[in-house]
Order: sequence, then C-alpha cells, then structure tokens
Amino acid sequence: MAEIHFTYLPGDGIGPEVGAASIAVLNAVATKFGHSLNIEEHLIGGAAIDAGLKPLPDASFESCQRTGAMLLGAVGGPKWDFLKGAERPELGSLLPLRKNLNLYANIRPCKPYPALIDRAPLKRERLEGVDFVVMRELTGGIYFGDKGRDERGAYDECRYSEAEVRRIAIKAFDLAMTRRKKVTSVDKSNVLETSRLWREAVIDVAKSYPEVELEHLLVDAMTMHMLTNAQSFDVVLTENMFGDILTDEASVLCGSMGVIPSASLSDGGMGMYEPIHGSAPDIAGQGKANPLAMILSAAWMLRLSFGLEAEATAIEDAVSAALEKEQTTGDLGGALSTAQVGAWIAEYVQN
Ligand code: NAD
Ligand code: IPM
Ligand code: MN
Repeated sequence: MAEIHFTYLPGDGIGPEVGAASIAVLNAVATKFGHSLNIEEHLIGGAAIDAGLKPLPDASFESCQRTGAMLLGAVGGPKWDFLKGAERPELGSLLPLRKNLNLYANIRPCKPYPALIDRAPLKRERLEGVDFVVMRELTGGIYFGDKGRDERGAYDECRYSEAEVRRIAIKAFDLAMTRRKKVTSVDKSNVLETSRLWREAVIDVAKSYPEVELEHLLVDAMTMHMLTNAQSFDVVLTENMFGDILTDEASVLCGSMGVIPSASLSDGGMGMYEPIHGSAPDIAGQGKANPLAMILSAAWMLRLSFGLEAEATAIEDAVSAALEKEQTTGDLGGALSTAQVGAWIAEYVQN
C-alpha cells in the first residue's frame, strides 16, 4: 500500500470541473489497489487572485515544493485579462511554478485513439499509425526573457543557453532510445540565432546516440508536415513557444483538445501533470468539458511520480474503454457531462 501524496491545483474555468473528475478516478484507483490519497488542495491563478492572494500564493508554492507532485487544471481567463505582467494568472503562477521547480522537460503525446480516428477532421489514412511525443523545452526561450514596453514599442527577449538546449535534447534522445529511435528537432534556424544555437547543440548531443536518426525541420514546414506526414515522427524536440503551438495543432489529430495530457519534469524528481488545454472559458461552468486529458494526466502522475505502473495502466485502459463505448462528452460526439465521464471511468477502474 502506497500513500499518494500530491498537490492539487484546480485553478480556473474548466480546471475545477475536469479536476473533480480526475479526483473521482484517483479515489477509485486508491480503493481498488489499497492505497491512500493525501491531497493538498491549493488555490492558483485567477481563483487565488479572487481570494485576495497572489496568483501563486506562498502556501500553494510551498506545498508544490514539499510534495514534488502536482496535478493542475488550468489557469487564466477573460476575467483576469486586464491584468498586466506577473499580476496575470499565466505569468504570475504557471510560469514561475515551472521555472522555480525547474520543470524543464514537458512531454506531450500524440497518438490518436482508434475510436476517435473518424472524429478528427483529417482523413483516416493520415491518422492511422500516428504515434509521436513532443519533448517541449519549458523553462527557457521567449517566455522567460526580458519583456516590457519602451518608447519604441514592446519587446520580448528570446534567449537559450547551450546547457539548456543540451539537457532537453538529452531527454529527447533518451526517450527516442525507448521508442522508434528517431528525433525530429524543430527550429527556425533560417532566421533566429537561438535556433542556430539549438541546432548546433542538438547535432552535438546526437553524437552520443549513434542509433538514433536525427532530422531537422523548420517550424513553419513542421505545421504542414504534422497534417500530411505525422506518421513519420517519433520524438519531436522543440523549444518552448514552438512546442506550445505545435501541441495544440497535434490535438486536432487526436480529435479534441480534451484528450492530451502532459508531464513537466525536473532532474530532481519533481513532476507537474496537467492537460495541454486551457481554462476553456467558452464552455466553463456547463459540465461540457472533456475530462480525459486531466484523467490521463493523473495516470501519468501515478506512473512517473509514484511508480504505480499497474494503476496508471488501469486508468488508461478505462479511458480507451470509455471511448470505444462512446461514453464521452460533446466535443467527441457523446452526450455525457464532465462528471458523468469521470464517474464512468472511476467505476470501470473499480470493476
Ligand atoms: P483553451 O485550451 O482553453 O480552449 C481552446 C478551445 O478548446 C476552446 O474552444 C475550448 O472550449 C476547447 N477546449 C479546451 N479544453 C477542452 C476540454 N477539456 N473539453 C472540450 N473542449 C475543450 O484555450 P484558449 O481559449 O486560448 O485559452 C483560454 C484561457 O486558458 C486563457 O486565459 C489561456 O491563457 C489559458 N490557458 C491556460 C493553460 C494552462 O493553464 N495550462 C493552457 C492553455 C491556455
Ligand atoms: C500551455 C499553455 C501555457 C503555455 C500558457 C497558459 C502560459 O498554453 O501550457 O500550453 O503557453 O505554456
Ligand atoms: Mn498551450
């Protein structure tokens, strides 16, 4: 019996809705496998601001630091869009959490479920066999450079050190060694100096992985290849902002924003798990949000932070079963609410 001790940060918009569904599933896993849950729930983002606190309250950050395992819904929304700089939910909570805990390796999978292939807008032959993972650098680049306004306008600085590129490249090559041994590095080295450094460092890291095939693509061409030739990718390695944009595009291959989980990992064993989608203000509060990305993120937390492989697989099998039996929310053509999908998966896990 294990104690599953983590920090739960529901956040804003659909965050608490998909979060509640994931907690229901974790409770079912704990019952089924004889574990105990020790959940430290904390405010983050707009919810913290509305409570008169900072976007990342000290108590929330302290809990994350202490547990080292975090399950996060989403932050931000129109209600807080008038705020500037670090007063914003995104810049004042999510980014410092990632940076201060050194969660530099962000892993986002794209493997369309067979049951969803006909739901995606692309032709079946473009989706069958697609199975790649994006290794997104998460604590550098334009997100974290100097930003501001001056008499000339506005600026956002983009910086990468060689060490920052090397460590994420090593993660990508290590992952490729456990898969089909191919890394596609995505940059904009025809224009950006940071991308030229990126490419040089990736080429150098590749020398230690002679079995891994390395290809380079420019990010503009990559957006096209992802829609026409996605079967050719295994591990896609890219910098912070390109990874953000490309993974929203990847969600189209998978049928919905609501099905892609993510893990953000440090070298010291810390992990934050969150869906790749945001707070979806257009559907928040209506029970329409698809909780699968959040539920799959919880499964990844069990696997990667707690070593609970069978438990993670039980959740993933239940998600596949829900899709096959069309027990889904409206974005996937189903008629269930967020909570009903969570309850169905929780029950499947327990039986
Ligand atoms: P979004 O991902 O919230 O929504 C994009 C579209 O996808 C919307 O039409 C939404 O309804 C749909 N969608 C998203 N998740 C869904 C789900 N689980 N089920 C069904 N449909 C889903 O992106 P956005 O609208 O550009 O951003 C809204 C807010 O979320 C912004 O404030 C943004 O900064 C924030 N955001 C936060 C995170 C995060 O906390 N990790 C990630 C992305 C965006
Ligand atoms: C994501 C989000 C965040 C990002 C925002 C909310 C800061 O879009 O996790 O994909 O750009 O990294
Ligand atoms: Mn994003």
